[in-house]
Amino acid sequence: MPSPTQEKHAKFVLSPWLPQGGLVAPVITRGEGSFIYDEDGKKYFDLGSGLIAVNLGHGHPKVVKAIQDQAAELGYAAPSLFNAKRAALAEELSEISPWAKSGEGCRTFFTTAGAEANDDALRIAQHLTGRRKVLSAYRSFHGSTGSAITLTGEDRRWGGEPGFPGISRFFAPYPYRSPFYAETPQQETERAIEHLERVLMHEDPKRVAAIFVETVVGSNGVIVYPDGYLKALRALTEKHGILLVLDEVMTGFGRTGAAFGAIRFDVVPDMMTFAKGVTSAYVPLGGLMVRESLAKTFDTRALPSGHTYSGHPMAVAAGLAAVRAYKEENLFARGKELESFLAESLAPLAKKYDIVGDVRGVGAFFAVEFVKSKAGKEPLVPWHGDGPGVMKTLYAELRKREVYTFGKFNCCMVAPPLNAKKEDITKAIGALDESIAALAATL
Ligand SMILES: Cc1ncc(COP(=O)(O)O)c(C=O)c1O
Repeated sequence: MPSPTQEKHAKFVLSPWLPQGGLVAPVITRGEGSFIYDEDGKKYFDLGSGLIAVNLGHGHPKVVKAIQDQAAELGYAAPSLFNAKRAALAEELSEISPWAKSGEGCRTFFTTAGAEANDDALRIAQHLTGRRKVLSAYRSFHGSTGSAITLTGEDRRWGGEPGFPGISRFFAPYPYRSPFYAETPQQETERAIEHLERVLMHEDPKRVAAIFVETVVGSNGVIVYPDGYLKALRALTEKHGILLVLDEVMTGFGRTGAAFGAIRFDVVPDMMTFAKGVTSAYVPLGGLMVRESLAKTFDTRALPSGHTYSGHPMAVAAGLAAVRAYKEENLFARGKELESFLAESLAPLAKKYDIVGDVRGVGAFFAVEFVKSKAGKEPLVPWHGDGPGVMKTLYAELRKREVYTFGKFNCCMVAPPLNAKKEDITKAIGALDESIAALAATL
């Protein structure tokens, strides 16, 4: 029986991306560390860090205090006025950015979310290059607003079509299901780049302003590009004067075992977008980091973007406290430490269950991909669907065992907060093991 709050929620709130009829979800009332609690007091380990965003766990005292203090001090300042915390956060971001090593640094334009950051990055890339076209990858997600939804390379884009003009897509590597019939990671990289070169030839590289990619494909199944792909992509974009925009909305702030995926994979982009982990998701904040050599263009030309909430004091105060907490608590390195722990803890699931086709990831960012059987690799549920609620069964079984996570299609996210205790992660993976057994028994 739905509770009164569940009934009210279903009656008055529209939930994202789903048919609304019959929706019921736990009513979350409190969060502490790696756990969230529902209205009945039941606790769930947050194995998906919210939406891969609560990288510091819930209720980090320093971030909470920064938000409380900021609310008492100043709730709003127009973005055209200056603000000390906004400046301090942008400086911190420059210092942890992939442009810090060379001394170049960057400037940040703040937004409210990741999608807006990608919209702005696209427009700014067009202004910087004087070119109109943009390329992005199939099987990507870049957000649900204006041009971000058209950049998106999966089914969530379909409802927003025909969309923003001038965006074409290409296939990026997917080692488990190679679109290029590759048999080795090296082949996958080489063939993916060859394919992209061919796409560029047909689009005319001189008309292409930017290529957008997620540094690791996030909500479409945590696809880690094979060695050398991002570097080869960088070389190709440089050759044609095309800007490389890395979408670090999901991968930023320690998720890949470094401040940003760009640093983990040693690639220097032209712009980077971020959101989610910048405040550990406590307050909505996103942004666009522009390398200094490009940002200075706007010393003499107007920046072609602006928002009422750009660099909102509440958001930047939370962001500043969160970024300092990541640094003080060495959490970017903890993400890297969790990589081998998660890989070793999840590997037995792939051996044990014929429906577990692949377990993959980097840092504290993993996914389990489900199949009908290992041999055939046919996805357990079809693209753009969950069959008759097959994956829903898995998430319901997990919740029965006090674990929350989420996924898309046949992939389930395993991405705990960066400061989660190993014993709690082990327990959650034990629950995942039992939940997969329960799911397999229903098939
Ligand atoms: C890689 C990536 N880009 C952009 C977005 C959109 O961010 P937001 O939901 O903050 O608009 C997301 C959201 O999940 C994302 O994963």
